[in-house]
Amino acid sequence: MTTTRPGKMPNANTPSEKSETKPAPSAWNANLYDAKHDFVWKYGSDVVSLLAPQPGERILDLGCGTGHLSAQIAESGARVLGVDRSPEMIQAARQAYPKLKFEVADAMELKFDGEFDAVFSNAVLHWIHEPVRVILGVRRALAPGGRFVAEFGGRGNIAKMVRAFDQALAHVNSPNAGKINPWYYPSVSEYAALLEQNGFEVRFITLFDRPTGLADGAAGLRNWIAMFGSAYLEGLDAAQRENFLRRVEDFLRPDLFREEQWWADYRRLRLVAFV
Ligand code: BEZ
Repeated sequence: MTTTRPGKMPNANTPSEKSETKPAPSAWNANLYDAKHDFVWKYGSDVVSLLAPQPGERILDLGCGTGHLSAQIAESGARVLGVDRSPEMIQAARQAYPKLKFEVADAMELKFDGEFDAVFSNAVLHWIHEPVRVILGVRRALAPGGRFVAEFGGRGNIAKMVRAFDQALAHVNSPNAGKINPWYYPSVSEYAALLEQNGFEVRFITLFDRPTGLADGAAGLRNWIAMFGSAYLEGLDAAQRENFLRRVEDFLRPDLFREEQWWADYRRLRLVAFV
Protein backbone atom coordinates (compact mmCIF):
# COMPACT_ATOMS: atom_id res chain seq x y z
CA MET A 1 0.00 0.00 0.00
CA THR A 2 1.27 3.46 -0.81
CA THR A 3 1.10 6.14 1.81
CA THR A 4 0.91 9.87 2.25
CA ARG A 5 2.46 11.64 5.16
CA PRO A 6 1.26 15.04 6.25
CA GLY A 7 3.33 17.80 4.75
CA LYS A 8 3.83 16.24 1.33
CA MET A 9 2.13 18.20 -1.40
CA PRO A 10 0.58 18.00 -3.84
CA ASN A 11 0.92 14.34 -4.81
CA ALA A 12 -1.18 12.39 -2.34
CA ASN A 13 0.24 9.04 -3.34
CA THR A 14 3.87 9.52 -2.49
CA PRO A 15 5.29 6.39 -0.88
CA SER A 16 6.76 6.94 2.55
CA GLU A 17 10.38 5.89 2.93
CA LYS A 18 10.55 5.86 6.70
CA SER A 19 7.23 5.03 8.23
CA GLU A 20 5.26 1.84 8.46
CA THR A 21 1.63 2.51 7.88
CA LYS A 22 -1.41 0.39 8.49
CA PRO A 23 -4.98 0.72 7.38
CA ALA A 24 -7.64 1.09 10.05
CA PRO A 25 -8.27 -2.21 11.76
CA SER A 26 -11.18 -3.90 9.98
CA ALA A 27 -11.92 -6.21 12.91
CA TRP A 28 -12.56 -3.75 15.67
CA ASN A 29 -14.52 -4.98 18.62
CA ALA A 30 -17.86 -3.23 18.13
CA ASN A 31 -18.92 -3.78 21.78
CA LEU A 32 -15.72 -2.28 23.16
CA TYR A 33 -16.02 0.58 20.69
CA ASP A 34 -19.49 1.46 21.93
CA ALA A 35 -18.81 0.77 25.60
CA LYS A 36 -15.63 2.76 26.10
CA HIS A 37 -15.21 4.97 23.04
CA ASP A 38 -18.68 6.38 22.51
CA PHE A 39 -17.16 9.89 22.46
CA VAL A 40 -16.30 9.16 18.80
CA TRP A 41 -19.89 9.37 17.67
CA LYS A 42 -21.15 11.66 20.46
CA TYR A 43 -18.83 14.43 19.27
CA GLY A 44 -19.97 13.60 15.72
CA SER A 45 -23.40 15.10 16.46
CA ASP A 46 -21.91 18.53 15.73
CA VAL A 47 -20.91 17.31 12.29
CA VAL A 48 -24.45 16.08 11.68
CA SER A 49 -25.62 19.62 12.47
CA LEU A 50 -23.17 20.96 9.91
CA LEU A 51 -24.53 18.46 7.39
CA ALA A 52 -28.07 19.75 8.08
CA PRO A 53 -29.76 16.77 6.42
CA GLN A 54 -33.11 17.46 4.78
CA PRO A 55 -36.14 15.16 4.43
CA GLY A 56 -35.81 12.95 1.37
CA GLU A 57 -32.10 13.63 0.80
CA ARG A 58 -29.95 10.61 -0.07
CA ILE A 59 -26.95 10.53 2.26
CA LEU A 60 -23.96 8.22 2.44
CA ASP A 61 -22.41 7.85 5.92
CA LEU A 62 -18.83 6.89 5.09
CA GLY A 63 -17.25 4.87 7.90
CA CYS A 64 -20.50 4.59 9.85
CA GLY A 65 -19.11 2.32 12.61
CA THR A 66 -21.93 1.09 14.80
CA GLY A 67 -24.45 3.32 13.01
CA HIS A 68 -25.36 5.89 15.67
CA LEU A 69 -24.73 8.90 13.47
CA SER A 70 -26.50 7.26 10.51
CA ALA A 71 -29.50 6.99 12.80
CA GLN A 72 -29.24 10.65 13.81
CA ILE A 73 -29.09 11.64 10.15
CA ALA A 74 -32.11 9.44 9.39
CA GLU A 75 -34.13 11.24 12.10
CA SER A 76 -34.24 14.24 9.77
CA GLY A 77 -36.18 12.20 7.21
CA ALA A 78 -33.14 11.73 4.97
CA ARG A 79 -32.52 8.31 3.37
CA VAL A 80 -29.20 7.06 4.70
CA LEU A 81 -26.85 4.31 3.66
CA GLY A 82 -24.11 3.59 6.21
CA VAL A 83 -20.94 1.88 4.99
CA ASP A 84 -17.92 0.64 6.90
CA ARG A 85 -15.06 -1.67 6.01
CA SER A 86 -15.51 -3.61 9.25
CA PRO A 87 -18.10 -6.43 8.99
CA GLU A 88 -18.29 -6.45 12.82
CA MET A 89 -19.30 -2.80 12.88
CA ILE A 90 -21.88 -3.32 10.13
CA GLN A 91 -23.36 -6.28 11.96
CA ALA A 92 -23.65 -4.20 15.15
CA ALA A 93 -25.18 -1.29 13.21
CA ARG A 94 -27.77 -3.57 11.59
CA GLN A 95 -28.69 -5.03 14.95
CA ALA A 96 -29.05 -1.62 16.58
CA TYR A 97 -30.95 -0.02 13.69
CA PRO A 98 -32.74 -2.76 11.73
CA LYS A 99 -34.79 -0.24 9.74
CA LEU A 100 -31.70 1.46 8.29
CA LYS A 101 -29.48 0.27 5.45
CA PHE A 102 -25.85 -0.66 6.09
CA GLU A 103 -23.25 -2.28 3.84
CA VAL A 104 -19.64 -3.36 4.12
CA ALA A 105 -17.57 -1.11 1.84
CA ASP A 106 -14.05 0.28 1.84
CA ALA A 107 -13.72 4.07 1.58
CA MET A 108 -10.87 3.55 -0.89
CA GLU A 109 -12.99 1.38 -3.17
CA LEU A 110 -16.30 3.22 -3.40
CA LYS A 111 -18.38 2.10 -6.36
CA PHE A 112 -21.27 4.56 -6.17
CA ASP A 113 -22.16 6.71 -9.12
CA GLY A 114 -24.12 9.91 -8.58
CA GLU A 115 -26.60 8.39 -6.15
CA PHE A 116 -26.12 10.75 -3.18
CA ASP A 117 -26.97 14.34 -2.33
CA ALA A 118 -24.38 14.32 0.44
CA VAL A 119 -21.52 12.21 1.72
CA PHE A 120 -20.90 12.48 5.46
CA SER A 121 -17.87 11.16 7.33
CA ASN A 122 -16.88 11.42 10.99
CA ALA A 123 -13.56 10.31 12.55
CA VAL A 124 -12.58 7.99 9.72
CA LEU A 125 -10.45 9.67 7.09
CA HIS A 126 -7.35 9.95 9.30
CA TRP A 127 -7.02 6.17 8.93
CA ILE A 128 -6.50 6.38 5.18
CA HIS A 129 -3.12 7.31 3.74
CA GLU A 130 -4.43 7.60 0.19
CA PRO A 131 -6.78 10.59 0.42
CA VAL A 132 -7.13 11.07 -3.31
CA ARG A 133 -8.69 7.63 -3.73
CA VAL A 134 -11.28 8.55 -1.13
CA ILE A 135 -11.92 12.01 -2.53
CA LEU A 136 -12.42 10.65 -6.07
CA GLY A 137 -14.81 7.97 -4.79
CA VAL A 138 -16.79 10.57 -2.84
CA ARG A 139 -16.97 12.88 -5.83
CA ARG A 140 -18.21 10.05 -8.04
CA ALA A 141 -20.83 9.10 -5.43
CA LEU A 142 -22.29 12.61 -5.39
CA ALA A 143 -25.02 13.93 -7.67
CA PRO A 144 -24.34 17.33 -9.30
CA GLY A 145 -24.44 20.03 -6.60
CA GLY A 146 -23.88 17.44 -3.86
CA ARG A 147 -21.86 18.11 -0.74
CA PHE A 148 -19.12 16.40 1.23
CA VAL A 149 -19.23 17.10 4.97
CA ALA A 150 -16.46 15.55 7.01
CA GLU A 151 -14.45 15.74 10.21
CA PHE A 152 -11.32 13.83 11.12
CA GLY A 153 -7.93 14.25 12.76
CA GLY A 154 -5.98 17.17 11.27
CA ARG A 155 -2.37 18.29 11.36
CA GLY A 156 -1.07 18.09 14.93
CA ASN A 157 -3.73 15.61 16.07
CA ILE A 158 -2.58 13.66 19.15
CA ALA A 159 0.93 15.07 18.66
CA LYS A 160 1.74 14.75 22.36
CA MET A 161 0.51 11.18 22.44
CA VAL A 162 2.50 10.17 19.36
CA ARG A 163 5.64 11.73 20.85
CA ALA A 164 5.08 9.72 24.03
CA PHE A 165 4.50 6.49 22.07
CA ASP A 166 7.79 6.91 20.20
CA GLN A 167 9.69 7.85 23.30
CA ALA A 168 8.29 4.81 25.11
CA LEU A 169 9.12 2.48 22.21
CA ALA A 170 12.71 3.71 22.37
CA HIS A 171 12.65 3.14 26.14
CA VAL A 172 11.75 -0.55 25.66
CA ASN A 173 14.40 -0.86 22.91
CA SER A 174 11.88 -1.44 20.15
CA PRO A 175 13.29 -1.05 16.62
CA ASN A 176 9.93 0.52 15.69
CA ALA A 177 10.53 3.78 17.56
CA GLY A 178 9.84 6.66 15.16
CA LYS A 179 8.76 4.31 12.37
CA ILE A 180 5.10 3.71 13.09
CA ASN A 181 2.64 6.03 11.45
CA PRO A 182 -0.88 4.63 11.41
CA TRP A 183 -2.59 7.96 10.68
CA TYR A 184 -2.94 10.68 8.08
CA TYR A 185 -3.38 14.16 9.55
CA PRO A 186 -3.40 16.77 6.79
CA SER A 187 -3.29 20.53 7.22
CA VAL A 188 -6.07 22.85 6.03
CA SER A 189 -4.11 23.92 2.95
CA GLU A 190 -3.10 20.38 2.06
CA TYR A 191 -6.58 18.90 2.23
CA ALA A 192 -8.30 21.90 0.64
CA ALA A 193 -5.86 21.66 -2.28
CA LEU A 194 -6.57 17.95 -2.71
CA LEU A 195 -10.30 18.64 -2.75
CA GLU A 196 -9.94 21.47 -5.27
CA GLN A 197 -7.60 19.49 -7.51
CA ASN A 198 -10.18 16.73 -7.61
CA GLY A 199 -13.34 18.58 -8.52
CA PHE A 200 -14.64 20.11 -5.28
CA GLU A 201 -15.34 23.69 -4.29
CA VAL A 202 -14.34 24.10 -0.65
CA ARG A 203 -16.83 26.34 1.12
CA PHE A 204 -15.67 25.77 4.68
CA ILE A 205 -12.60 24.19 6.24
CA THR A 206 -11.12 24.65 9.70
CA LEU A 207 -8.65 23.08 12.11
CA PHE A 208 -9.31 23.27 15.85
CA ASP A 209 -8.21 21.70 19.11
CA ARG A 210 -10.75 19.45 20.75
CA PRO A 211 -9.33 17.87 23.89
CA THR A 212 -11.30 14.66 24.28
CA GLY A 213 -12.01 13.06 27.64
CA LEU A 214 -11.45 9.29 27.66
CA ALA A 215 -13.71 6.98 29.66
CA ASP A 216 -12.65 4.74 32.54
CA GLY A 217 -10.51 7.03 34.71
CA ALA A 218 -6.90 5.97 35.05
CA ALA A 219 -7.36 3.12 32.55
CA GLY A 220 -8.57 5.45 29.80
CA LEU A 221 -5.28 5.89 27.98
CA ARG A 222 -4.56 2.16 27.97
CA ASN A 223 -8.03 1.48 26.64
CA TRP A 224 -7.47 4.02 23.87
CA ILE A 225 -4.14 2.43 22.91
CA ALA A 226 -5.71 -1.05 22.90
CA MET A 227 -8.54 0.11 20.63
CA PHE A 228 -6.82 2.55 18.31
CA GLY A 229 -3.04 2.35 18.82
CA SER A 230 -2.41 -1.39 18.73
CA ALA A 231 0.18 -0.91 15.94
CA TYR A 232 2.48 0.45 18.65
CA LEU A 233 2.17 -2.75 20.69
CA GLU A 234 2.99 -5.15 17.89
CA GLY A 235 6.27 -7.02 18.32
CA LEU A 236 6.45 -6.26 22.07
CA ASP A 237 6.35 -9.12 24.57
CA ALA A 238 4.12 -8.87 27.64
CA ALA A 239 6.79 -7.25 29.85
CA GLN A 240 7.74 -4.74 27.16
CA ARG A 241 4.07 -3.86 26.65
CA GLU A 242 3.59 -3.13 30.32
CA ASN A 243 6.78 -1.05 30.36
CA PHE A 244 5.67 0.77 27.24
CA LEU A 245 2.25 1.60 28.71
CA ARG A 246 3.69 2.78 32.03
CA ARG A 247 6.24 4.94 30.27
CA VAL A 248 3.56 6.50 28.05
CA GLU A 249 1.39 7.22 31.09
CA ASP A 250 4.28 8.71 33.07
CA PHE A 251 5.29 10.86 30.12
CA LEU A 252 1.78 12.19 29.47
CA ARG A 253 0.36 12.41 33.00
CA PRO A 254 1.51 15.99 33.69
CA ASP A 255 -0.10 17.24 30.47
CA LEU A 256 -3.09 15.01 29.76
CA PHE A 257 -4.40 13.66 33.08
CA ARG A 258 -6.78 16.04 34.84
CA GLU A 259 -9.50 15.49 37.43
CA GLU A 260 -9.07 11.71 37.39
CA GLN A 261 -9.45 11.50 33.61
CA TRP A 262 -7.20 11.24 30.57
CA TRP A 263 -7.68 13.87 27.86
CA ALA A 264 -6.51 12.98 24.35
CA ASP A 265 -5.00 15.96 22.50
CA TYR A 266 -7.34 15.68 19.53
CA ARG A 267 -7.28 18.30 16.81
CA ARG A 268 -10.00 18.16 14.15
CA LEU A 269 -10.14 19.10 10.51
CA ARG A 270 -13.75 19.93 9.62
CA LEU A 271 -14.97 20.76 6.12
CA VAL A 272 -17.84 21.31 3.73
CA ALA A 273 -17.12 21.00 0.00
CA PHE A 274 -19.45 20.94 -3.01
CA VAL A 275 -19.20 19.34 -6.45
C1 BEZ B 1 -9.04 10.62 16.17
O1 BEZ B 1 -10.28 10.57 16.15
O2 BEZ B 1 -8.44 11.68 16.07
C2 BEZ B 1 -8.28 9.38 16.27
C3 BEZ B 1 -8.92 8.20 16.57
C4 BEZ B 1 -8.19 7.05 16.63
C5 BEZ B 1 -6.85 7.07 16.40
C6 BEZ B 1 -6.21 8.24 16.11
C7 BEZ B 1 -6.92 9.41 16.05
